[in-house]
Amino acid sequence: MAPDGGDPAAPVICVDGPGGSGKSTLAALLADSLQWRHLDSGALYRLVAAAALERGMSLEDREALAGLAARLDFRFEDADPAVSGEAPGPDIRSEPVGAAASTIAAYPELRSAILSRQRAARRPPGLVADGRDMGTVVFPDAPLKIYLDANPEVRAERRNKQLKNKGLNVSFRALLVGIHERDARDRERAAAPLKPAGDAVVIDSTAMNLDEVLGQALALVRERGLDR
Ligand code: DC
Repeated sequence: MAPDGGDPAAPVICVDGPGGSGKSTLAALLADSLQWRHLDSGALYRLVAAAALERGMSLEDREALAGLAARLDFRFEDADPAVSGEAPGPDIRSEPVGAAASTIAAYPELRSAILSRQRAARRPPGLVADGRDMGTVVFPDAPLKIYLDANPEVRAERRNKQLKNKGLNVSFRALLVGIHERDARDRERAAAPLKPAGDAVVIDSTAMNLDEVLGQALALVRERGLDR
C-alpha cells in the first residue's frame, strides 16, 4: 500500500449523479450508517474554484489552475472538506462557486492534479465517495456503484427549498437554467464526463423521498455483503 495512494483493499461505494440529485446527502447517510469515511469530491472542485476566485485568477488559465489544485492542502477531517492556510473566500456552496467549479472541472490537467488526493481517501474500514466520475474514473473497481438521478425540475425545486431554508431567495427559473447549463457542461466535456458507469445501479429519485432512496441503497449494500 502506497502511503498516499490509499488502501486498494478498502471497499468503496460510489454515488455519482448530476447536481442536486441528493448524492452528497445519500453518501453522508450511507457513510454514517456503515461508519465509513465520506469523500465529497465536488467539494474539492469547489474549494479550488473558490481559491481561484479569491485570488482573482482567470478561469481560463488551465496551467495555473492545475498548479493551484496541486498545491492546496485539502483537509478531510471535518464534515465539510476545507483547505489549510486559506483565507475565508466565497462560500463554496454558493451558485457562482458551483458554476466556476463546473467550468474548471472540464480541464484534464486540473482533474489529474486532484486524482491521487481522492484515491488517498480510500482507507479502512471503507469509503463512500460521491461526485461525477467516482465509478467511471477514480474508483473503477468499487464493489457498489450507484448513479442517482432526478429530473431537472425536481432538482431545481429541492435546491430552491434549501436556499429558502437558509433565508436566500433565488428565482426558480434562474435555478432551473443554472441546472440545465451545469448538466450540459458536466455531461458534454471530454474529460471524465458525467455518465453512469457500465456496472452502476441507476436510482431515479424524481418520485422518491430521501428515506426511500436510502432504503434502496442500503438494500444494495446488504445484497453485496458490504455491511459485514
Ligand atoms: O457535486 P457538486 O455540485 O458539489 O460539484 C461541483 C462541480 O464540480 C460540478 O459541477 C462538476 C465538478 N465535479 C466533477 O467534475 N467531478 C466530480 N467528481 C465532482 C464534481
